[in-house]
Amino acid sequence: MPPARFLTFEGADGCGKTTQMALLAQALRAAGRDVTTTVEPGGTEVGRAIRKILLDRTVAAPAPMAELLLYFANRAQNVEEVIRPALSQGHIVLCDRFTDSTRAYQGAGRGLDMGVIDQLDRIACGDLTPDLTLVIDIPLEVSLERARVRNAGTGSRETRMDDQGAAFHQRVREAFHAMLRAEPARFIQVDGDAAVETVQARIQEALAGRV
Ligand code: TYD
Repeated sequence: MPPARFLTFEGADGCGKTTQMALLAQALRAAGRDVTTTVEPGGTEVGRAIRKILLDRTVAAPAPMAELLLYFANRAQNVEEVIRPALSQGHIVLCDRFTDSTRAYQGAGRGLDMGVIDQLDRIACGDLTPDLTLVIDIPLEVSLERARVRNAGTGSRETRMDDQGAAFHQRVREAFHAMLRAEPARFIQVDGDAAVETVQARIQEALAGRV
């Protein structure tokens, strides 16, 4: 298997993937690798403007299909501006969420057509797919509680998805489990219900020899 260079991090809200991705980037850089990190939605100036429309509860909510297209508009920009250039310079690219989030949240969560999502993925990303995808799994109650505490603590206005009910988030979690079963060669599940260092050690162990 060739070494993975485009790695995505996925999981429920509050699963800790952002922290874990930053720690992995640090470890890879310490090992002498060139690493580019990016995030969805966001990652570029265009993406950050789109992120505000998508997640800020003080901005009017887009209709489900408009929301889907905005996630892909953000992705097309990220692929063109950040991900492809970094890969072509030989960097390892770590991306905090990618199309699998769209499958989970807009597909399973909102009930939009998975075939349409796959088509849009080809349009926005061409032949680019993640070499490896880490799903950080935590129980639903832990996810909902962490999101609640974080939003209360930071006064974040990015609550559009957190405001969905438990049934929505349960469908999101099950969608990630279904992806793991369907594509075991690409997905790695890591149990995220532990201390930060423990989860990072699990990630590095799971990636050993694959990056
Ligand atoms: P993120 O900033 O990763 O939030 P968290 O740290 O809580 O996981 O993601 C923001 C939200 O965007 C998250 O609730 C999931 C949602 N999202 C989608 O619904 N579809 C997508 O394609 C992406 C990339 C994110």
